[in-house]
Amino acid sequence: MSIIGQGKDRGGGTEKVLINWLPQYLPPNLGKEEGKKKVNLLEVGALKPDNYDSYSSWISNTPIDLRSRHPKIIEQDFLLLDPVENREKWDVISLSLVINFVPSPHDRGKMLRLARSFLKSPTGLMFLALPSACIQNSRYLDRTRLGTLLHATGFRIVVERCKAGGKIVYLLCQADAPYPLDRSELPSELTTKRTLREGNRNNFAILL
Ligand SMILES: C[S@@+](CC[C@H](N)C(=O)[O-])C[C@H]1O[C@@H](n2cnc3c(N)ncnc32)[C@H](O)[C@@H]1O
Repeated sequence: MSIIGQGKDRGGGTEKVLINWLPQYLPPNLGKEEGKKKVNLLEVGALKPDNYDSYSSWISNTPIDLRSRHPKIIEQDFLLLDPVENREKWDVISLSLVINFVPSPHDRGKMLRLARSFLKSPTGLMFLALPSACIQNSRYLDRTRLGTLLHATGFRIVVERCKAGGKIVYLLCQADAPYPLDRSELPSELTTKRTLREGNRNNFAILL
């Protein structure tokens, strides 16, 4: 269904949102203009190999997925990428509709922490897209808690899009907040589930 959703007849993939935002938030040495360097992008959870091909003059994309559907998509678990080799390697990391596919709340938090350490600091950008229900109708996560989690992992939200009635929430986060605290220093509401809303809700959570 995700692949069908990426078709042009369905309005295309979420990468259009990122492409729209990117030029305004890139550091001055990167981008489309002559003399600037290409953006080094890691696309996690790539369903198609060519999402960023139209922008190849200024974006160098590396698409990865747990289960590659194409020879140009590297079969790789993001959680198992070499932390030393990838440290501060990337200008942009896209986690578009990926975190909600990860079964464990702690692994979702680990994805955020890894993304922070893999991004160039302080200019690196993480593109995060989540189904709106993960934030708007979860027992354990709301917009405020998501903001706190992102801040605790060393991100500052620079722009977000959350249309009323929209199915997806998009955020662009910069890796310029202080580097993540030691896990033992984190407040317990970020490391264990806390009910934020009662009633008939889903159980989506992100934990550090
Ligand atoms: C909904 S699909 C991706 C959608 C696409 N990125 C988009 O925005 O439309 C989620 C993808 O994330 C991949 N994925 C989940 N966990 C992953 C991990 N740890 N490392 C790499 N890919 C992962 C899944 O294999 C799946 O192909």
